[in-house]
Amino acid sequence: MSRSSRSPRRRLAQIAALTALTMAGAACGNSLSDDEAGSDGGLKIGLVVPASGVYEPLGVDMTRGFELYLDQNDGQLGGQDVEVVKADEGEGPDTGVPATTKLASQDQVSALVGIVNSATALGVKDVVTQSKVPLIVANAGADDLADGSPYIWRTSFTNGAVGASLGEEVAQAADGPVYMIAADYAAGKEFVAGFKEAFEAAGGDVAGEAYTPFGTTNDWQPFLSKIQNTDASAVYAFYAGAEAVNFVKQYQSFGLSEDLPLYGPGFLTEGGVLTAQGDAAEGVRTSLHYSNLIDSPENKEFVDAYTEAYDEAPTVYSVQAYDAAAVLDAAIAEADGTDGESVAKALAGVGEIESPRGTWSFDEDHNPDQTYFLREVQAVDGGFGNGVLEPLTD
Ligand code: PHB
Repeated sequence: MSRSSRSPRRRLAQIAALTALTMAGAACGNSLSDDEAGSDGGLKIGLVVPASGVYEPLGVDMTRGFELYLDQNDGQLGGQDVEVVKADEGEGPDTGVPATTKLASQDQVSALVGIVNSATALGVKDVVTQSKVPLIVANAGADDLADGSPYIWRTSFTNGAVGASLGEEVAQAADGPVYMIAADYAAGKEFVAGFKEAFEAAGGDVAGEAYTPFGTTNDWQPFLSKIQNTDASAVYAFYAGAEAVNFVKQYQSFGLSEDLPLYGPGFLTEGGVLTAQGDAAEGVRTSLHYSNLIDSPENKEFVDAYTEAYDEAPTVYSVQAYDAAAVLDAAIAEADGTDGESVAKALAGVGEIESPRGTWSFDEDHNPDQTYFLREVQAVDGGFGNGVLEPLTD
């Protein structure tokens, strides 16, 4: 994979202009015909990430990661010029399913990239399979999503695997029972289930669990006082985006952070979320397959290029979308054609991906076979970062 770093800002401006034009066309109901879009042998890729709702910042990071890869590769994937057609996933299936359906069925895309929310991912699975357009899931971790369907591939994680990766560590570190709290939808349930299974298998005791209404909870106080009235010695929590900011800040202002160490999937303290949490997050320990503080030449090169382009360090969401572009690049280069079926077939032959997170490959269910790291929020360069303590898995 070639990764040049020529004039990122200029090229990004070109890509942004092209995608903005495409969105404007789609909004007027006049998406380009095949001839207009593909006369230079180019292809269309649908990018569906949140541009609204609690997960909107995740969508920004994913778009940036995807566009950075294109920028570093002359705007091409597999030697073909790429036109990115964007759609807003919104907060959940009500918005995400129709947005994805339109891209898959009307916009003649060769592949789809994106999807943050697990419930949305489960909702689009059949649409994607019926349309024979491959979907590279660049975030949503729903456990049963990728089951070997030729059209569903994932560059992110499964919720159960992220949850399980921290179970033994917390069982060994905690002084007593652990309370689990999460957003009340598919992902929250699966992170907790994965964590709980590994935690109990390693001898951990559960103090209780609670699920908070997704996207509408602003005040965690009733849940935090419930935790205080148990014999919990630590807490495991799944929240992301705006919910993660509010939860971690309220956890500190309620006084729990002094006595009950906080653990969770790394989304709890990732990127702009951590900047907004500030010192409320200091000491929080999480597990994830990426931290922008991973000490490797590949990661440093990526962090530098990303930071130069966007004046901000990358997140796990940026990397998952960057790698989605990388796998499409490799697949399209080998595919018999740019139709969805040909691209889907070629994805099976992609092999190892050299990523800022480290080398990974697709497993037999089309999920990443990858390492999870134990991270701790630490003071870094006048702010806070997710220091990498140790690998938790091989
Ligand atoms: C999910 O719904 O699968 C999900 C959403 C946000 C995250 C992680 C997982 O940060």
